[in-house]
Amino acid sequence: MKPIEPENDNDHTGPVKTPKQLLWVVLGAFFIPVVAIIALTYYVANVHRPSPGFNPHELVEKSNKIIEKVGKVEVIDETKPPKAGNEVYQAQCITCHEKGTLGAPKFGDNQAWSARINKGYDSLLNSVYNGKNAMAAQRGGEFTDLELAKAMVFLVNSSGGKFPEPSLANKEKESTKPTSVAPVKNSK
Ligand code: HEC
Repeated sequence: MKPIEPENDNDHTGPVKTPKQLLWVVLGAFFIPVVAIIALTYYVANVHRPSPGFNPHELVEKSNKIIEKVGKVEVIDETKPPKAGNEVYQAQCITCHEKGTLGAPKFGDNQAWSARINKGYDSLLNSVYNGKNAMAAQRGGEFTDLELAKAMVFLVNSSGGKFPEPSLANKEKESTKPTSVAPVKNSK
């Protein structure tokens, strides 16, 4: 019978047997994850980095073309409070009406405007909505009809006109005209 040998200490110390080995283990335990994290970061960054020939504008254009095939969707939020006439004028009308570009009647030039003003609010608004000669239709941009009307009134009233400030109520009245197919709204 074999005598029971005293337990060998080495059985429980695993592969690390010298302080030098311990140092390597500690260093490895520290550096391997760090290197792995750095490598991962590079990998992710490279996956998302656009290739050299990549042009974001091209991508936008391409997707626009695809969307166009399906149909343009214009999102004009009519529930937002309308922008002031002044603001819309600055954004969209000033290009031509400030300096009389393309023969536009100038802002503040009462003489140039008086004959036009006599044609009446609806006639002028129609020109703004649908365009007139060198002035392209102002509809179809980022502003609502009401905002365009406000811009028109701002421009005209700064040039000798005395149109009332357009409001949503006026607009509803407009849409009840017999020519319109819009449902008649009962504004009490
Ligand atoms: C691309 C230049 C251009 C822009 C932008 C422009 N207009 Fe005009 N507008 C003109 C020209 C040119 C005329 C003169 C048209 C004519 O009578 O031959 C005109 C005429 C008008 C008239 C008189 C129309 C009539 O029936 O006599 C009004 C009102 C008017 N513009 C308002 C606006 C408003 C409001 C905006 C901005 C929402 C605007 N315009 C943006 C060029 C422009």
